Amino acid sequence: MTVQDIIQKRIALAETRVTKAVFPETTNHYDTLFGGTALQWMDEISFIAATRFSRQRMVTVSSDKIDFNHPVSVGSIVELVATVVHVGNTSLKVQVDMFVESMYEDGCEQAITGTFSFVAIDEHKKPAPVLPEHFIASERAAENKA
Ligand SMILES: CC(C)(COP(=O)(O)OP(=O)(O)OC[C@H]1O[C@@H](n2cnc3c(N)ncnc32)[C@H](O)[C@@H]1OP(=O)(O)O)[C@@H](O)C(=O)NCCC(=O)NCCS
Repeated sequence: MTVQDIIQKRIALAETRVTKAVFPETTNHYDTLFGGTALQWMDEISFIAATRFSRQRMVTVSSDKIDFNHPVSVGSIVELVATVVHVGNTSLKVQVDMFVESMYEDGCEQAITGTFSFVAIDEHKKPAPVLPEHFIASERAAENKA
């Protein structure tokens, strides 16, 4: 198994989905989802995906442009999907897409999208490899056993 194969396997393992009801306490005075709440949900789900990929301490280092393409009305359902889209040495990027759907009709559309970068840190809070050596060693050991 190549390192690229291991990365692809961990990307699949790390994909994270969360579904939420848009209740009034999450909205602004226009009765649409408050942008700050959307960003908090996106940062949290992207953190979970980054952590599942690396299984180490991860910190947010930056967020790229966030596009709010469609309003999210109170009383709708949203699904957030977080996918690791780039793996560096000590950092990785997670794309988050938020889809909105009506409670009473089938179908959904993409409402918000953005990318968040995370860095793996060691016990001294210094950057550490996002794909630790022991992942590679254990995958290769399992392959040799098979
Ligand atoms: C994250 C942190 C440990 C990085 O330390 P650093 O000394 O700047 O790290 P480096 O310059 O060695 O870069 C480490 C990696 O981060 C990437 N990186 C650094 N700054 C970045 C930024 N603004 N955006 C995207 N990637 C960045 C580098 O490209 C490098 O990636 P690579 O190893 O995959 O090539 C440090 O900036 C930090 O502690 N920041 C605060 C994090 C925080 O408190 N977040 C909020 C709470 S979770």
